[in-house]
Amino acid sequence: MLLRCVTRTCHVLVLVLCLSAAEDFDWTKNNHGSFYYGTFPTGFSWGAGSSAYQTEGAWDQDGKGLSIWDVFSHKKGKVFFNDTGDSSCESYYKVKEDISLIKELKLNHYRFSISWPRIIPTGIKSDHVNEKGIEYYDSLIDSLLENDITPIVTLYHWDLPQLLQDKYGGWQNVSMINYFNEFANLCFERFGNRVKYWITFNNPWAVAVEGYETGEHAPGLKLRGTGAYRAAHHIIKAHAKVWHTYDTHWRSKQNGMVGISLAGDWGEPVDITNQKDIEAAERYVQFYMGWFATPIFHGDYPQVMKEFVGRKSAQQGLGTSRLPTFSSQERSYIKGTCDFLGIGHFTTRYITQKSYPTGRGGAYFTDRDVAELVDPRWPDPGSEWLYAVPWGFRRLLNFVKTQYGNPDIYITENGVSEKMMCTELCDDWRIQYFKEYINEMLKAIKDGVNVKGYTAWSLLDKFEWDEGYSERFGLYYVDFRNHKKPRYPKASVQFYKRIISANGFPSQREVESWKRKATETCSSSNQLLAAEQQRSTAANILRLIHDPLTSHMEMVTEIVVPTVCTLCILLSAVFLMFLLRRRK
Ligand SMILES: *[C@@H]1O[C@H](CO)[C@@H](O)[C@H](O)[C@H]1NC(C)=O
Ligand SMILES: *[C@@H]1O[C@H](CO)[C@@H](O)[C@H](O)[C@H]1NC(C)=O
Repeated sequence: MLLRCVTRTCHVLVLVLCLSAAEDFDWTKNNHGSFYYGTFPTGFSWGAGSSAYQTEGAWDQDGKGLSIWDVFSHKKGKVFFNDTGDSSCESYYKVKEDISLIKELKLNHYRFSISWPRIIPTGIKSDHVNEKGIEYYDSLIDSLLENDITPIVTLYHWDLPQLLQDKYGGWQNVSMINYFNEFANLCFERFGNRVKYWITFNNPWAVAVEGYETGEHAPGLKLRGTGAYRAAHHIIKAHAKVWHTYDTHWRSKQNGMVGISLAGDWGEPVDITNQKDIEAAERYVQFYMGWFATPIFHGDYPQVMKEFVGRKSAQQGLGTSRLPTFSSQERSYIKGTCDFLGIGHFTTRYITQKSYPTGRGGAYFTDRDVAELVDPRWPDPGSEWLYAVPWGFRRLLNFVKTQYGNPDIYITENGVSEKMMCTELCDDWRIQYFKEYINEMLKAIKDGVNVKGYTAWSLLDKFEWDEGYSERFGLYYVDFRNHKKPRYPKASVQFYKRIISANGFPSQREVESWKRKATETCSSSNQLLAAEQQRSTAANILRLIHDPLTSHMEMVTEIVVPTVCTLCILLSAVFLMFLLRRRK
């Protein structure tokens, strides 16, 4: 008790010291609940995002090849409810409609991804280029530009061509680097006159860990302890190669930028006075974002990763570390291959030190020696893993600033989901999430972090990977049960729109009124959705009533056809016998 009092007093002292040295807004640093009224720098870019497999549908149309997600989602038991992205939001057919939603929001940019197998069906450029696929992205890009919306284009949002998986083992194989580079080069050649922001990979952490270590994502491999490190190694090299391709062959003509989008949850020490917790939290972040960012900005893996994976590998009796190494030539080739850093951020964890024995072999999650905790008071409206902890966002951004030399940052993903059956368009929890997270980003900019743009995740409800359609991240609600896939604005559309038009948060009075107005409009949208759903349920019932008719018709064919045939055979037999008799 006494000790606790002493630490408390110390905290207060530190707080007071900080305050006295601070600028006017610095009080926000030690007061998590505080709200900062102010605006973003002029030219700050506001956007929303999507990805190909999650929204396009048309999975086997117009010459598209299969991706690992097409194949994975068609296997039973891999995705919640055995759902697939076969039709999803049908965005492949709805360019105009989606652009009108983007315009409604007054977005400056729209982030989407190009499906590799849609434009190169086998994944190998020399096999075949699918012009129909190119046409689709041409029309999307052109329509965006006609409406003054900047396209930000991701090259790899998890949909590897299946053939490359079957033939080479996907990202386990070093040959992916060249195939990916050829695909990227084709995109620069065909779209680069109009696209100026390129993201090589979206969240390579998930590709490596969930695709090759836990197997929760396509291709569903469980290569514990080695698969993720190897996949990540090739992805980092592929990223660097594509950056160099752009830098050497396209930059002078096209004047664009090439970056990568990394996922980064923040890790906060459980006890900020405990050195072990502080180090554990640092490890958590280094094994997460640092795994990719440190090679790209400094040329090699984080020291702490090399140490921990190396030591655990030795304890297992392995001759070399399970974490691959870069040659010195590779280190200098990879270092500095980032014109801007994309960050996808959703949540935060408390971290404490926890040692895992190496007896049963190593794995990514035990190599780190950390345990993750959450505060039960943190709001948790949707996805199980997604707790709203706005202050973690500012900490992560400041970490990135100091660790990687204050790079230009685009927030490429930030948002919150709601549970499946929720047809509630009055999403006040999402309004709250955006309001607070965007405010923490504003504070980070005041701290000196170079954030240039923000991408709300996501424009539409969509296929949420292994969670199927059970988690909804959209600003717009999509009625997936209706084959027309109609979109309905949630209240957060109105709220986000106002942040954009004010370029920030002008005053308390105004921001409060936005929230009020946003929730006013959503009840009419709710009624619209409810009416439409009633109508489609009625249509379904009609279909059910029709069903007995069709099954009756099936019965007719099933019984009548064989009966008639048998009769015919019998009759001809009798006729034959009659003929034979007459001959006699
Ligand atoms: C998914 O498919 C598996 C295997 O066929 C089946 O056991 C399971 O019940 C299915 N799940 C749903 C929700 O249909
Ligand atoms: C990579 O692909 C080649 C060609 O199919 C194959 O010979 C090699 O074994 C693969 N390497 C790995 C690590 O899978």
